[in-house]
Amino acid sequence: MTGRSSRAGLPGGWAVVTGASSGIGEALARELAARGHRLRLVARRKDRLARLAAELRALHRVEVEIHACDLADRAERESLCRELAALEIDVLGNNAGFTTCGPLSGADPLREAQEVEVNVVATHELTLAVLPGMLARGSGTVLITGSTAGWQPVPSAATYAATKAFVNTFAESLHGELRGTGVTCTLLAPGPVRTEFMTVGGAGELETRRWFAWQTPGTVARTALLAAERGRRISVPGRMARLQGLSGRYLPHPVTFLLLRTLILPRLRSPRRRGTRVHRPG
Ligand SMILES: NC(=O)c1ccc[n+]([C@@H]2O[C@H](COP(=O)([O-])OP(=O)(O)OC[C@H]3O[C@@H](n4cnc5c(N)ncnc54)[C@H](OP(=O)(O)O)[C@@H]3O)[C@@H](O)[C@H]2O)c1
Repeated sequence: MTGRSSRAGLPGGWAVVTGASSGIGEALARELAARGHRLRLVARRKDRLARLAAELRALHRVEVEIHACDLADRAERESLCRELAALEIDVLGNNAGFTTCGPLSGADPLREAQEVEVNVVATHELTLAVLPGMLARGSGTVLITGSTAGWQPVPSAATYAATKAFVNTFAESLHGELRGTGVTCTLLAPGPVRTEFMTVGGAGELETRRWFAWQTPGTVARTALLAAERGRRISVPGRMARLQGLSGRYLPHPVTFLLLRTLILPRLRSPRRRGTRVHRPG
């Protein structure tokens, strides 16, 4: 990563990972700890963060702080942003996020609003909080987890696709804006990854679909960090994600809709689908 060295060749500042209690965020934390980064782990489930922190301290002898924070809560976000703005941050892994699934007409408006708060507003606010410090130091890495879903319309995940459209565009725009500053921004746009994501979104049964060509969170995290270390604009790990990315970005949307209607959605339909939403407390 681009951070200054203060301890025998190790990065001097902190690496912050949001959504570190599970999936891709946990894998990012593991990879960053293995690289010698001091870590600040953010999510709501403090018990999981504490367990991971203890494991990483023991394994890699790195400093690990945990910050239990509901990123859908404005006051909690503000407090986290104030804390991060005052620290030397080498890496910001803006990764926390979730989806809701199903027709928007049946959705819980509060849950949809939380999705926008976590996926969009938190990503935006945290990036703005750490950027001035990174730019003043002339070094830093922002890694933003978007999705291939942000490049195309996704019926039955309308809010999610729209939040990721924001995140994808934000990350790519920032990448261009930061050129020559010593600070980089990389968009991680995964396709299907085996995490708790589908279950939390109420579509856990999709994990049985083998044609999804699932990636593991470890592979995704390693690929993303390699791209971020090289200052790349985008990381799209795996063949399925790259195919989705290409079709989402370059096919006209009427063609995408036709493919969704005729090929994709019929394979996703399942009687177990309805009423399986899982909302975590907080
Ligand atoms: N898995 C996929 O197929 C896939 C594909 C494309 C993109 N992505 C993106 O990858 C990112 C990570 O997802 P994942 O696949 O690793 O799913 P995951 O296993 O469900 O992890 C999601 C993480 O986000 C955190 N989070 C959710 N709501 C939060 C809130 N209100 N406040 C703070 N933290 C919150 C969760 O922590 P707590 O519950 O402890 O708060 C958890 O650590 C997300 O941005 C997702 O959109 C995933």
